[in-house]
Amino acid sequence: MLTKDQVLKIREDFKYLNLNDKELIYFDNAATSQKPNRVIESLDEYYSYENGNPHRGAHYLAMKSTEVYENSRDKIASFINASSNEIVFLRNATEALNLIAYSWALNNLTENDEILISIMEHHSNLVTWQYVSKKTGAKIKYLYLDDNKQITEEEFNSKISKNTKLFSITAASNVVGTMPNVKEMIKKAKKINPEIVTVVDAAQFAPHHKVDVADIDCDFLVFSGHKMLSAMGIGVLYGKEELLNSIDPFLYGGDMIEYVYEEKSTYLNSPQRFEAGTQNVGGAKSLAVAIEYIEEIGIDNIYEYEAALTTYAYEKMEKLSYIDIYTTKDTHRSPVLAFNFKDAHPHDVASILDNYGIAIRSGHHCAQPLHRNLGINFSCRASFAFYNTFEEIDYFIEHLEDVRRLMGIES
Ligand SMILES: Cc1ncc(COP(=O)(O)O)c(C=O)c1O
Repeated sequence: MLTKDQVLKIREDFKYLNLNDKELIYFDNAATSQKPNRVIESLDEYYSYENGNPHRGAHYLAMKSTEVYENSRDKIASFINASSNEIVFLRNATEALNLIAYSWALNNLTENDEILISIMEHHSNLVTWQYVSKKTGAKIKYLYLDDNKQITEEEFNSKISKNTKLFSITAASNVVGTMPNVKEMIKKAKKINPEIVTVVDAAQFAPHHKVDVADIDCDFLVFSGHKMLSAMGIGVLYGKEELLNSIDPFLYGGDMIEYVYEEKSTYLNSPQRFEAGTQNVGGAKSLAVAIEYIEEIGIDNIYEYEAALTTYAYEKMEKLSYIDIYTTKDTHRSPVLAFNFKDAHPHDVASILDNYGIAIRSGHHCAQPLHRNLGINFSCRASFAFYNTFEEIDYFIEHLEDVRRLMGIES
């Protein structure tokens, strides 16, 4: 696990910790992570010395930018154990899920099919399928959680069937922190229906945990760069190469075609097939640099340290009688702590904590069905990263009592 000294050294890489007029405890990492200096500098370097339009042009900067873009793709491919042709750069996880919906699901699902997702999905892995269901008639089925916010084997067995043609599941919940065993689920799903297409939403998983797409054996996997230290506006769709090359493009235009005639066109294979128009090369580079940074620290070290932070915070909060915690008790979890004061609204809690320089999230965290299922409308969420410290958690816990005092709630 990362030592205190290692974390203090890491913290020197983050400028937000050196704001002139404000001390900030950033516990909104599940919404977006902060960026280390190296990532910020990589954008400066790209736009200063390497900027051209990739895949177009024979001059130095066009070729440089192509090289930066494709090297970034190679880096990301090796990070998740994929081949480079299986990595499609998009804006974010949401766009990647929409690509699967438009290019695969709308063309392949019918009213006889079922889509299996869980109740803890982020809206981007839920609303998207509702649209597909509306257009194709395919029926959505939900996996529900037990009291410990886990999907039991019985629940999975009772919902998966030969009719399940799409199974799309988060590898880590952004609210309850649950990390289902997606590998086992996918293996079982493929036994029941070898034709099934499986999707893993790794938006909250990839920043904290090793991803190995060959081992998981999913058909598609998505994640966003901005949640794992890179610039915003860059995300990744992984897809098995054969599958990617067999489906229609999502967007049409420049750079994704092979030949264009007056009446028809032929398309390139993946990844160009799905990357119409000028791409976010700087963003791709920043993600490759972010991954290099993560690899230097070690993704397992990151996971262990963040898990320890989460358990530390969980155990402290558990002792506060005025707080309800929604995060799973299972210590194999994503570093998110969702909670409510029994007697204060989450927005009030977040605003008051902000006065003490503590940034947490309040709201439904794009997971309304999950909140409804938990019997609530909103929650507070503190989410941790490897640059957070145990002392920051102490400070946060101390100030929870101030929220009640300032709101005039008697102890
Ligand atoms: C589990 C999960 N999936 C998908 C997303 C969507 O990510 P983005 O907004 O970067 O597309 C999020 C964002 O919070 C998430 O937490």
